Amino acid sequence: MARINKSQLIRAAARARQGAVAPYSKFKVGAALLTKSGEIIGGANVESASYGLTCCAERVALFSALTSGRKDFVAVAVVARAPGGPMPCGACRQLLAEYAPDATVFVADSRKLAAVKEFSVKELLPAAFVDVPGKTD
Ligand code: THU
Repeated sequence: MARINKSQLIRAAARARQGAVAPYSKFKVGAALLTKSGEIIGGANVESASYGLTCCAERVALFSALTSGRKDFVAVAVVARAPGGPMPCGACRQLLAEYAPDATVFVADSRKLAAVKEFSVKELLPAAFVDVPGKTD
């Protein structure tokens, strides 16, 4: 398994953030997922005029990774201009609990990339709803 290079993943999230489309909130968020084999997949938030359709950076990265055949995520980094780094929203925590349950979550302020906070997905969403009867791969 690839060793988790925290600062490399944070830098990938900061780079992905440049792709954010956030004309309403102006709050640009970048995310980067790391797979067990060492691949990094980035994503950024995309906002809609119909605000509720906005998709967070974490989910954009996750959907991109999943739909290009990636799985076995070991870590995800999230970067935004936010004191202490941006904490993933509840919707993203749910998706991470389903598709990246064993991942380490790193967050950092885009102005201070060396100060990284670290969480587990299980700690961010304990007792997650993940077991639906009849589920297949
Ligand atoms: N946002 C993310 O992309 N990730 C988070 O973890 C929190 C919020 C986005 C959604 C919206 O485009 C903007 O930040 C303001 O909420």
